[in-house]
Amino acid sequence: MLFTQQQSFLTDNSILNQKGLVIWLMGLSGAGKSTIAGLLKERLIENGIFSVVLDGDTMREGINKNLGFTDNDRLENVRRVAEIAQILANNNVVAICSLITPLHEHQQMVRDTVKMPYFEVFVDCPIAICEQRDVKGLYKKARKNEIKNFTGISAPFLSPLHADMVLSTADEEPSESMQLLCDQILPLIKPN
Ligand code: ADX
Repeated sequence: MLFTQQQSFLTDNSILNQKGLVIWLMGLSGAGKSTIAGLLKERLIENGIFSVVLDGDTMREGINKNLGFTDNDRLENVRRVAEIAQILANNNVVAICSLITPLHEHQQMVRDTVKMPYFEVFVDCPIAICEQRDVKGLYKKARKNEIKNFTGISAPFLSPLHADMVLSTADEEPSESMQLLCDQILPLIKPN
């Protein structure tokens, strides 16, 4: 017999005592998105909450490996991740997405795709500091023109217009930023 959602007496809530939510961290490469996402996942585990991190770099190694960094490829990149996040959240999972999401068009695509409760975070860090950190050495390469369309150097980043929260990672330790974010989202996840 074909299984449909309607025929089931059980819901995911009988396993996961939590509500689904999509958290989307956007900002420059090196701003701290992935670090905060990882720390948040750990803190949520401590609170008995199951989450999945969807990180731009990781997604681009697999499902999005056919995409580059043109505006259109980035749009498709964020659209696919938003669709996956939507499915997870619809099944009571917290999806923590960390992608640059550089243009207003990209940011709007996420909003239009995610129908579940959505929490948008601008991980705000000046380009000079991201470049100084240069954890992956990519800014150096971008300056030497070895990487084209590099966000902040040869491709734009537009600050989001509708962020639910701004984390200033030049002034805060990653653990502080994570805690500020966690305080905001926990009430959205806890069941009534
Ligand atoms: S997005 O613009 O489509 O949202 P995404 O978050 O998936 O970007 O990927 C960004 C990561 O890809 C960066 O953190 C960096 O490691 C890597 N990268 C490689 N080339 C570029 C580029 N041209 N611009 C920005 N990031 C790049």
